[in-house]
Amino acid sequence: MSSSSAPRAGTFAIGGVLPVHRLGFGAMRITGDGIWGPPRDLAEARRVLARLPELGIDFIDTADSYGPFISEDLLGEVLHPYPPGMVIATKGGLTRAGPGVWLPVGRPEYLRQCVMMSLRRLKLDKLPLWQLHRIDPKVPRDEQFACIAEMQREGLITHVGLSEVKVEEIQAATRHFTVATVQNLYNLVNRQSEDVLTYCEQESIGFVPWFPLAAGTLARPGGVLDTIALRLGVTPSAVALAWVLQRSQVMLPIPGTAQVKHLEENAAAAGLTLSPEDFAALDAQGRADWDKQKRA
Ligand SMILES: NC(=O)c1ccc[n+]([C@@H]2O[C@H](COP(=O)([O-])OP(=O)(O)OC[C@H]3O[C@@H](n4cnc5c(N)ncnc54)[C@H](OP(=O)(O)O)[C@@H]3O)[C@@H](O)[C@H]2O)c1
Repeated sequence: MSSSSAPRAGTFAIGGVLPVHRLGFGAMRITGDGIWGPPRDLAEARRVLARLPELGIDFIDTADSYGPFISEDLLGEVLHPYPPGMVIATKGGLTRAGPGVWLPVGRPEYLRQCVMMSLRRLKLDKLPLWQLHRIDPKVPRDEQFACIAEMQREGLITHVGLSEVKVEEIQAATRHFTVATVQNLYNLVNRQSEDVLTYCEQESIGFVPWFPLAAGTLARPGGVLDTIALRLGVTPSAVALAWVLQRSQVMLPIPGTAQVKHLEENAAAAGLTLSPEDFAALDAQGRADWDKQKRA
């Protein structure tokens, strides 16, 4: 494995000014089952994080609610002082009441606490990209956006992102601050955010697809993904990621893993260029799979 795989995917400038390699890392999986507590193999999770700079991965997504706190704590422990150019993007606004339980709280005083505590855990003076994990439906959204804008004016946050939002919500937030990134569920076989992706392309907003590795039945033995992967001599995960990267220049996938082997397999996707025929075959099958899911 080359020591600098990720740069081969090219760069994207967050907010037009903060360049990162387009293939990032999601730090949600370095926690326990249900994204609760420490990971089963803490030493391996530390090795995964230590390997990131060697692979040229400089865009790391996390959240205070991963663990909770475990993911941010581990990043601060293993990677601080961060290598020059490394961007830690964290999120706040989701509370945890147990394994697999996620509840939004968007009251301004809580959002402020999220930011202040992420700064402490990540050992930073300013968060380069802070994302509102969910808009809390119980709190007027303008109150949530106004509080974020205030924290940005105070210099606690540089760039602001949103997660799981519709186009209309991005436009509403834009009245308070520049939306630098949007993090929505997106992969070969889940296309519910195609309209959001198109909007992000128009507005030069980074689109961070979560669960980018999912490929549904396309990954079954003899399926289109498996066949292309075998022919190219790479893993199906690498092909799924290469498709996501090729889908749009604003795409910043953040595949997650707690295993060095998987991290290296995923990083290999940065150097993989799918032929127009392979890209189109995957695209068509993915859309067909998604249409089938919607009808079911
Ligand atoms: N904004 C949101 O609401 C939201 C929601 C979910 C996630 N996220 C973010 O998005 C990131 C990615 O999402 P995700 O973790 O759900 O999906 P993902 O990265 O597409 O998939 C992760 C899963 O795939 C496995 N995996 C990773 N690489 C593999 C490989 N090469 N071969 C086989 N299996 C592999 C991992 O297990 P192993 O550990 O065994 O490799 C893990 O179970 C998260 O880390 C988090 O930062 C955001």
